Amino acid sequence: MAYIVDLRSDTVTKPTKAMKHAMVNSALGDDVYGEDPTVNALETKLAALLGKQAALFVPSGTMANLIAIMVHCNKRGSEAIVGDSCHIFKYEQGGAAHLGGVLLTTLDNKPDGTFELSDLERRIRGSDIHEPVTSMVAVENTHNYCGGKSLPLNWLDELSALCKKHLLPIHMDGARLFNACAHEQQPPSRVVRDCASVSVCFSKGLSAPVGSALVGDYHFIQQARRIRKMLGGGMRQAGVLAAAAIVALDEVVPLLELDHKRAFRLAKVIEGLFLKPFSVDVDNQHSNIVLVRIAASSQLTADKVLQRLAQVSLSETQGDCKTTDDEGVIVKGTAFNEKTLRFTLHREITDEDLWLAIMKITYVFKELGQ
Ligand SMILES: Cc1ncc(COP(=O)(O)O)c(C=O)c1O
Repeated sequence: MAYIVDLRSDTVTKPTKAMKHAMVNSALGDDVYGEDPTVNALETKLAALLGKQAALFVPSGTMANLIAIMVHCNKRGSEAIVGDSCHIFKYEQGGAAHLGGVLLTTLDNKPDGTFELSDLERRIRGSDIHEPVTSMVAVENTHNYCGGKSLPLNWLDELSALCKKHLLPIHMDGARLFNACAHEQQPPSRVVRDCASVSVCFSKGLSAPVGSALVGDYHFIQQARRIRKMLGGGMRQAGVLAAAAIVALDEVVPLLELDHKRAFRLAKVIEGLFLKPFSVDVDNQHSNIVLVRIAASSQLTADKVLQRLAQVSLSETQGDCKTTDDEGVIVKGTAFNEKTLRFTLHREITDEDLWLAIMKITYVFKELGQ
């Protein structure tokens, strides 16, 4: 038996004791009738936190993003402009086109999760009869594929000025919005100030078992509610889930900074190994996601490294690479692409887990990287 440190994603987190207690004891009603008091409480609380008029509880981040796109792009022939490495474009099956009939047009994402605003301005369309009509812009904050980057506030402000000029709503995929707020040391209402809609997830670093929400003005949420129903997202006694999300906002949001500190420590150790095949961008380490790049010149791939991290050799357990019970250690991560590994810190990773992960990663990286 080996001890597993699971750094694949913050989505692996399970509900806390307080969440389970709240779930069992929550007041319930039929949310499709708007009668679930716990869902209503969550929606009111979240809307206030983000400085918006209303919110809508939905089953997943993917559905939240899709609904936002379908509301903003509700005329046939609409397009949404997004970054080319955002979750909406890479990992949501093209749902915008599939289900919403919306064209996604991409801009090159920079390593910090932003894109060039002059490119955006050049790509806005609609005045020419041959073109689709640009109807929204989406950003992701923190930006998962860029390694949990928090979008700079001054860039968001410039984006907002440009979008206002062209009467374009901004949707923020804030699956990890509270991580961005922790990094920026700003309240969520400031970070999302100029966004017409925001999606947030409770089931990632916030550790709730299920659920996301969309936030915006009354009119937007009214339309979003209709589309949620059409997509099969009307969840009836959903208060049983919303109860955990309320606890997540109260109890887990304040802890996110600890995940960031642990992620930084891990990144710093990997940098300090000075091994040619592996690099991390410690100077731009913002939140709970650590990306390890493998040099193009190396024969190694992210999959190969993960396979080795999932094995325990006899020799490694003869050193420090073991638990106090003499168990070997397995570290799980994710291969973002052939040459990029992702390790994600989250509430269930203690300092001891981090230490074990560091020992194992150090051992394996030295073995593979010499
Ligand atoms: C940035 C981002 N947006 C949206 C989603 C989708 O969330 P869900 O898995 O709840 O559909 C994810 C999931 O990992 C994500 O990382």
